[in-house]
Amino acid sequence: MPLFDVYPLYDVTPVSGKDIYVYDEQGTEYLDLYGGHAVISIGHAHPNYVEAITNQVSKLGFYSNAVQNPIQQELADKIESLSGCKGYNLFLCNSGAEANENALKLASFKTGKSRVIAFKNSFHGRTSAAVAATDNPNIIAPINAQQKVTILELNDILGVKAELEKGDVCAVIVEFIQGVGGLDEGSSDFFEQVFALCQKNNTFFIADEVQSGYGRSGKFFAFQHYNVTPDIISIAKGMGNGFPIGGILIHPDIEAKYGMLGTTFGGNHLACAAGLAVLNTIEEGHLIDNVNAMSAYFIEKARAMPEIKKIKGRGLMLGLEFDFEVGALRKKLIYEYNIFTGGSSNKKLLRILPPLTIQKEHIDQFFNALKNAVDI
Ligand SMILES: Cc1ncc(COP(=O)(O)O)c(C=O)c1O
Repeated sequence: MPLFDVYPLYDVTPVSGKDIYVYDEQGTEYLDLYGGHAVISIGHAHPNYVEAITNQVSKLGFYSNAVQNPIQQELADKIESLSGCKGYNLFLCNSGAEANENALKLASFKTGKSRVIAFKNSFHGRTSAAVAATDNPNIIAPINAQQKVTILELNDILGVKAELEKGDVCAVIVEFIQGVGGLDEGSSDFFEQVFALCQKNNTFFIADEVQSGYGRSGKFFAFQHYNVTPDIISIAKGMGNGFPIGGILIHPDIEAKYGMLGTTFGGNHLACAAGLAVLNTIEEGHLIDNVNAMSAYFIEKARAMPEIKKIKGRGLMLGLEFDFEVGALRKKLIYEYNIFTGGSSNKKLLRILPPLTIQKEHIDQFFNALKNAVDI
């Protein structure tokens, strides 16, 4: 049976990984500055992670949400202590889209309203409401287009005010650093005013931290660079270091009701064991400090290259903008220099999303290769 052909693939077959590197069948070593799309947080095959998953699967991999599962509470407590989001409640699911879907659904349940505000170039996933709130008509099917979503420009505070005052908006959903869209950010004034307007108009302020969360921006959450308190925070990607897990953090003022949200696989034993190993490793390895140190080093190196016209993003969620489209450069980096980087909807932007364990030697390896690769 052929695979449904929806992914344009690079001709590389990784079969193993260790920390910042992946290896193909021939043993060729690839430097992974893409992190499998911002997913690999603590590095490939981290020993704590392998041990935690191995131990858990040998005891109990899965049971449903109909019974007590103390590992869920352990994970919730660890998220609370590392993120500083005191008093929030945790609902677990399996992916970023699902996290946003549940966030939007909860906002709609609680406010009794149904329209969503999202922003130009946003990406929130591919399911029903999440894809409708994504600014890419190519991936919105007619069934999704029935949702009521208004897309506004980032920093258009008057637009946000006018829409919220119409009284029918259940949620504003924000990526504090855009991922797929190309690393654009709103201003702090904008984010803080949107938050205030949401509070005033009984509208939920949702922080989509699926990509920017878990330390990638240099703080546990990217919204923590601003003076805002989201009603809901969606998480996934780095949360499981590759194990499928997602979730939403829900403000203590929002009350739960039996049956309001639910899932078969979300919060299963194996996913929670993976999630706990990730957080323990972030804490023990002081990985958020490493993000800040390595980000500064990376930016210093990038500034020294005249071919790079703009450096975007924060922490280890960075973009290097050139004055040419980078598709050919990305291929060259993979096939000639064995380095994975990311792309975005901004075709001139090279995206950098490495494991949070990256060290100076890896950054040096990248810039040596990049200098040669752009020197045509
Ligand atoms: C900001 C953001 N939100 C949501 C998603 C969707 O996550 P998933 O692919 O796990 O459904 C992504 C994926 O790239 C993302 O970057």
